[in-house]
Amino acid sequence: MLIFWKEPIQTAIKIIRGKKYAGVAVISDSNVISLYANTFVSCLKKAKLPCSVIEFPAGDSNKTRSTKEKIEDSLLKTGAGRDWVIVALGGGVTGDIAGFTASTFMRGIDWINIPTSLLSMVDASLGGKTGVNTPSGKNLIGTFHNPVAIIISETFLQTLPHLEWLNGIAEIIKHAVIMDRKFFEFLERVLPIGPHSNRKIIRKIIRRSIEIKKSIVKQDERELSIRSILNFGHTVGHAIEKSSEYKISHGRAVATGIIVEAAISMELGLFPHSSFKRLTELLIQAGFKSLVQKKFSSDLIYFMRTDKKKRMGKINFVLIKDIGKVYSNKNLFTFEVPEKTLKKVLNRFGLKGLEY
Ligand SMILES: NC(=O)c1ccc[n+]([C@@H]2O[C@H](COP(=O)([O-])OP(=O)(O)OC[C@H]3O[C@@H](n4cnc5c(N)ncnc54)[C@H](O)[C@@H]3O)[C@@H](O)[C@H]2O)c1
Ligand SMILES: [Zn+2]
Repeated sequence: MLIFWKEPIQTAIKIIRGKKYAGVAVISDSNVISLYANTFVSCLKKAKLPCSVIEFPAGDSNKTRSTKEKIEDSLLKTGAGRDWVIVALGGGVTGDIAGFTASTFMRGIDWINIPTSLLSMVDASLGGKTGVNTPSGKNLIGTFHNPVAIIISETFLQTLPHLEWLNGIAEIIKHAVIMDRKFFEFLERVLPIGPHSNRKIIRKIIRRSIEIKKSIVKQDERELSIRSILNFGHTVGHAIEKSSEYKISHGRAVATGIIVEAAISMELGLFPHSSFKRLTELLIQAGFKSLVQKKFSSDLIYFMRTDKKKRMGKINFVLIKDIGKVYSNKNLFTFEVPEKTLKKVLNRFGLKGLEY
C-alpha cells in the first residue's frame, strides 16, 4: 500500500492500530533519529503503543550483516515477537536493513517503510528488495519482502543535505529517460529545484517517478527481464563509485553513467545526437556540474568487469533509442557491447579511469 502526502506519523499510527500489532520497533539511523524518530516515539507512547527505538550509525558502510545482528539482538532484548511491526524511518540504507531484518526476524514479520530521503522515496522504497552489503560487493545478501505500507511525505526533505537531494534527482532523470518523454520535457521546464522549491512541483516529480518504477517492477518483480532497465547509467555509475572508493556520490556517478551509456547507445547508431545534447544539458541544469572527470588513474572497464553481479565477467548495458525509450530485442533489455566500442566512448570522454 502506497500512501501519499498524509501526515506520516499519524498515518503510521492509524495503520498500526488497525492491524492490532502488539508492539512497534522504530529503526532509524543516527542522523534521522534526532530529526524525526523522537517525535514519532512520543506519539506512539501517547497512543499507548508499546514501542522501542533502535538506532544504527548512518551511512552505506554500516549496511552490513553485523548491523543487522545488532538490530536483531535489540529486538530480542525488548521482547519483540511475531506480532510486532518494524517501522523503517530513514533513507534507503534504513529501508534496506530494516526490511531485511523484518523478513527474517521470527521467520518474517510485517514492516512499514517511511522513506525520508528523495532517493528512497522515488527508488529504494519501491520493489520489495531488501538487503545488506558484504566485503565482496553491495546488496549481495538480501530478500524480497514488501512492506505493508510505504508512506510518502515530502515534508522530510526540508532537512535533506544538497548532495543527498541530487542523488534522488539523478534517479528521477533516469526514470524519465527510460520511460517517459513527457516527464523528461516537464523536468526540462522545472529543473533545477531543491527541497524548498514549489511543493506542487516536488510532489509531481516524486509521484511520476514512483509510478514509473512501480510500473516496471510490476512487470518483472524478480528482475529477470524488463526490471533491468532500471540499471540504466548504473553499469558505468557503479564502476565510478567503486574506483573512487565511494568518495563520489551515487547520484553524481549515475549522472555520469547516464551520459556515458547514452553515448554508447549513440555510438551504436541507436540514440540521436540531438537527444544526447538535451540529456547532457538537463543533467547540468539539474545541478551536476562536472559530469566527466578530466584526469584518470585506473581502468573503469576493470571495475565493470569485476562487478560481482556480472555473469562470467560480461559487461551488459541498457541501451536507449531515444528519450523515453529503451532498446529491446526479443524481450532482452541488456546487451553486451564490443570492448572496442566501449573503449572508444570512454576515451572520448577521457574516461579510462578516474583521479580525484
Ligand atoms: N532496495 C532497493 O531496491 C534499492 C534501490 C536503490 C537504492 N537502494 C539502496 O539505498 C541506499 C541509498 O539510499 P539513500 O541515498 O537514501 O541513503 P541513506 O539512507 O544513507 O541516506 C542518505 C543520507 O541522508 C540522511 N538522511 C536521510 N533522510 C534525511 C532527512 N530527511 N534529513 C536529513 N538527512 C537525511 C541519512 O542519514 C544519510 O546520511 C543504498 O544502500 C542503496 O543500495 C536500494
Ligand atoms: Zn541508483
